Amino acid sequence: MKVGILGSGDVAKALAAGFLKHGHDVVLGTRDPAKLSDWVAQHRGSRAASFADTAKFGEVVVLAVKGTVATEALRAAGAANLAGKPVIDATNPIADAPPVNGVVKFFTNLDESLMERLQREFPKGHFVKAFNSVGNSFFVNPQFAGGKPTMFICGNDESAKQTVRGIIDQFGWETADMGKVEAARAIEPLCMLWLIPGFLRNEWTHAFKLLR
Ligand SMILES: NC(=O)c1ccc[n+]([C@@H]2O[C@H](COP(=O)([O-])OP(=O)(O)OC[C@H]3O[C@@H](n4cnc5c(N)ncnc54)[C@H](OP(=O)(O)O)[C@@H]3O)[C@@H](O)[C@H]2O)c1
Repeated sequence: MKVGILGSGDVAKALAAGFLKHGHDVVLGTRDPAKLSDWVAQHRGSRAASFADTAKFGEVVVLAVKGTVATEALRAAGAANLAGKPVIDATNPIADAPPVNGVVKFFTNLDESLMERLQREFPKGHFVKAFNSVGNSFFVNPQFAGGKPTMFICGNDESAKQTVRGIIDQFGWETADMGKVEAARAIEPLCMLWLIPGFLRNEWTHAFKLLR
């Protein structure tokens, strides 16, 4: 698949490396493509471009920017370039404020997630929440003594979720589909929970698993 990843940070790079490992073509989107020149030179099959060209390139688009600027980045990507495509939303609505006893602050509330805001502003993109509730070093084929971790996903479009399931499977995770876009109200705060042991005890090597 052609994957357009909006972002230039650790999350964008970790996902890009995963897509490349599994044989996909990758473009990374940023306001400043030159800053990725070293990374791109070291990762055959990748290149960097503007947000708009990246979204245009992708059959699948990934949103991997700072939560506070997610809308801005998607506006730069262009609504038309998202239309009809799965948009994997890895962002979290973390506010620009320090954690309190290890708990980060969100700029959303429990009745409205960031992904709902994005889905409303870009109705033609098929948003699927994924990869938001684990550290980026575990995105691709993680090895845990407890077995395969669970990736919680949600989104309104079934066929987009099917595509994302395939990717999650390839990346060595099991998928738990939590339903429509409103479920992001529950999935986004999982990042808050994931971060607490890190901030409190410097423990960063865990992931969630749904037992049945
Ligand atoms: N860190 C993790 O392990 C982890 C795990 C799961 C989910 N997440 C979530 O994934 C997202 C990305 O995290 P990250 O740590 O890789 O990167 P980040 O530092 O949160 O964000 C960097 C990205 O934000 C973009 N950006 C910043 N200001 C912008 C603006 N005004 N307009 C447009 N774009 C702007 C940057 O674009 P330029 O390239 O143009 O500067 C860059 O691509 C976040 O929402 C985070 O909560 C993080």
